[in-house]
Amino acid sequence: DKGEFRHYMMKEIYEQPDVIRQCLEGRVSETRLLEQAFGVKAKEVLDQTQAIQIIACGTSYHAGMVAKYWIESLAGIPCQVEVASEYRYRKTVALPNSLFITISQSGETADTLAALRKAKDLGFTASLTVCNVPGSSLVRESDLAIMTNAGPEIGVASTKAFTSQLTALMLLTIALGRRHGMVDQVEEEIIKDLVKLPELVEKAIALDDKIEKMSQAFAEKHNSLFLGRGAMFPIALEGSLKLKEISYIHAEAYPAGELKHGPLALVDKDMPIVTVAPHNDLLDKLKSNLEEVRARGGELFVFADEKSKVKDADGLTVLNMPSCSDLMEPILYIIPLQLLSYHVAVLKGTDVDQPRNLAKSVTVE
Ligand code: M6R
Repeated sequence: DKGEFRHYMMKEIYEQPDVIRQCLEGRVSETRLLEQAFGVKAKEVLDQTQAIQIIACGTSYHAGMVAKYWIESLAGIPCQVEVASEYRYRKTVALPNSLFITISQSGETADTLAALRKAKDLGFTASLTVCNVPGSSLVRESDLAIMTNAGPEIGVASTKAFTSQLTALMLLTIALGRRHGMVDQVEEEIIKDLVKLPELVEKAIALDDKIEKMSQAFAEKHNSLFLGRGAMFPIALEGSLKLKEISYIHAEAYPAGELKHGPLALVDKDMPIVTVAPHNDLLDKLKSNLEEVRARGGELFVFADEKSKVKDADGLTVLNMPSCSDLMEPILYIIPLQLLSYHVAVLKGTDVDQPRNLAKSVTVE
């Protein structure tokens, strides 16, 4: 039931504050990750884990890419991420004591399942799935499952599944971090941030009218570029996937530092460039990348917070986001990108919930 919404996708975007709450429910106190957050069996597996291999497809792959930034920076253990369709068909090597993690909304994606089956013979210590569908194949065939508890996702474009995957992966990062020298104070800060996150997501959703206006600049375009740095690069990727998937506009994402290695040649006035630019360590670098784009006549749409100090100017439109801590940025900044692609698709009159050529669950190769 879509309720008051025109499309499932919009309903699911609006559900995200609650979905984050549900994912935290029963797993955290106000300041700590609960010991049994992932069940009794998880303890032994996490105790042994010295390295991580993440496998997924599409949006779930982007969640895995964000998790890599978190796991390596907060838990200090090596984390590799790969798309399932590549991993399953190549000769791979598992690091000693590594945990094999799949991420999937449906739990039925053929390539991801095949990668899990392959991994069983490769010497991983255990397998874990971050999944939204109880009883799905990935849940049944993995040693451990962290359920994202987002409820059924109907729109083909994945939205609430992504934010719940990120929430669950942040909790997993804490569980791993604890075993690798993360101090209590850091854990406390992250948990407090996660508990506050649903309210911030509500604030981001409240920017919907402004984003709808912004979407008009995209409807007639054929190409677009999405930029980010650090853990915001996977968010640029996910934003570009949303746009291409439902609006059929070609969208490419780049880590902003790569611009001068090629894509800068594409930039002209017909190329809208979306940038996720929260205030963080990489902002100054990102800003100089944006100047490179502006100098070539590109039209910039920048999602930034007050502290980022990016101002509207000729060829540059800013959408002011609520401020949040660095670690929460990926979860918060995907919201406006979801809304943007939604409104562009509506303007173009595409079938938002059922985009052409795509299926919700890719159970065949
Ligand atoms: O069910 P899964 O998470 O395994 O699905 C993976 C991809 O097929 C999926 O995320 C796809 O990319 C979405 N349609 C993107 O919005």
